[in-house]
Amino acid sequence: MFDAIQPAPPDAILGLTEAFNKDDRPGKVNLGVGVYKDASGKTPVLATVKEAERRLVETEPTKSYKPIDGDPAYGACVQSMLFGAGHAVIADKRAATSHTPGGTGALRVAGDYLHANHPGATLWLSDETWPNHPSVFEAAEVPMKRYGYFDKATGGLNFDAMLEDLSKASSGDVVLLHGCCHNPTGVDLSAEQWAKAGDLFAQKGLLPLVDFAYQGFAQGIEEDAQGLRALAAKVPELIVCGSFSKNFGLYNERVGSLTFVAGSADTAKAVQSQVKARIRRNYSNPPAHGGAIVSTILNDDALTAQWHGELAEMRDRINGMRSLFVQTLADKGATQDFSFITRQRGMFSYSGLNKDQVGQLRDKHAVYIVGSGRINVAGLTEMNMDYLCEAIVEVL
Ligand code: LMR
Repeated sequence: MFDAIQPAPPDAILGLTEAFNKDDRPGKVNLGVGVYKDASGKTPVLATVKEAERRLVETEPTKSYKPIDGDPAYGACVQSMLFGAGHAVIADKRAATSHTPGGTGALRVAGDYLHANHPGATLWLSDETWPNHPSVFEAAEVPMKRYGYFDKATGGLNFDAMLEDLSKASSGDVVLLHGCCHNPTGVDLSAEQWAKAGDLFAQKGLLPLVDFAYQGFAQGIEEDAQGLRALAAKVPELIVCGSFSKNFGLYNERVGSLTFVAGSADTAKAVQSQVKARIRRNYSNPPAHGGAIVSTILNDDALTAQWHGELAEMRDRINGMRSLFVQTLADKGATQDFSFITRQRGMFSYSGLNKDQVGQLRDKHAVYIVGSGRINVAGLTEMNMDYLCEAIVEVL
């Protein structure tokens, strides 16, 4: 049976890491996958995570299964981070959260839920978006369309195109939005634009699905949640797919969340029972460790304060690298204006490099970036900056 199987194409992002690992050229640089690196080029385990793990090793009472939708204490932490402690959707029990294996797991369960319960709904994706979004929702058999988002001419947001396209959506359609640090463009909605988008969704009966994988990487935990909270003030129902891969550095623990906000506590319970049915037939119940780390940190004031400091350090280093990147490109002889890179937010720089230039960077210089021209700024260091910028100037 297997003899006729043809190889699948490599993954647009994780496939780069596979190719990078096989590359034996010295000085190779992997700026593909969105993983934070410190100034020495390492992806550290946060000190707060180490401390939480130490406590867990000493106190964890059992390895028995978690509930299908995970530990309620974890769900409570997720909801407080998303909406702020005591927010009305929490107080009124209108939110239900599942602990999922990563943000990707949350997206897939959301897709399975939509396919099973809202089969007529079309999912609208921004143009561009994370390349795995269409793959995940195609696998879940959710029909998709695109809405205008990135304006190539200005390197900013084409909000008019976004509103115009979404005004063509039908009631009951779902709109995928990036909560902050849009992947790959780094271009986010302003507070006013979130509110305006919320008005359109309310008026047309559209359901927002917020992919919130980078909370804390733009300005801070509270600041980055303003868009989501503005939506929650405008529409009665929404879905949030969260991830602690980046802000807790828990990439390989696969610790994500899927939150449904419904119009009432009873509706939230009914929806959650459907979500649990999808989870059970997919991965049954979540891995415990990553969620326990997050709950341990967020239920301890001192550890939480320390973690905010660690997060700020990551965010500040990335922003420092953005400025240095723009400066070094100019120093190395780039004549075009790259200052837009300092206006982008989050882990990525949407460089404007085309597919051919991306290919040359990889073939000639062993520099790996995503085909869309997306560069992981969080992987830049003072050590690899000169080499990268010289290579970019050469391919421009
Ligand atoms: C990325 O966009 O690089 C990250 O979200 C990691 C991934 O799974 O693609």
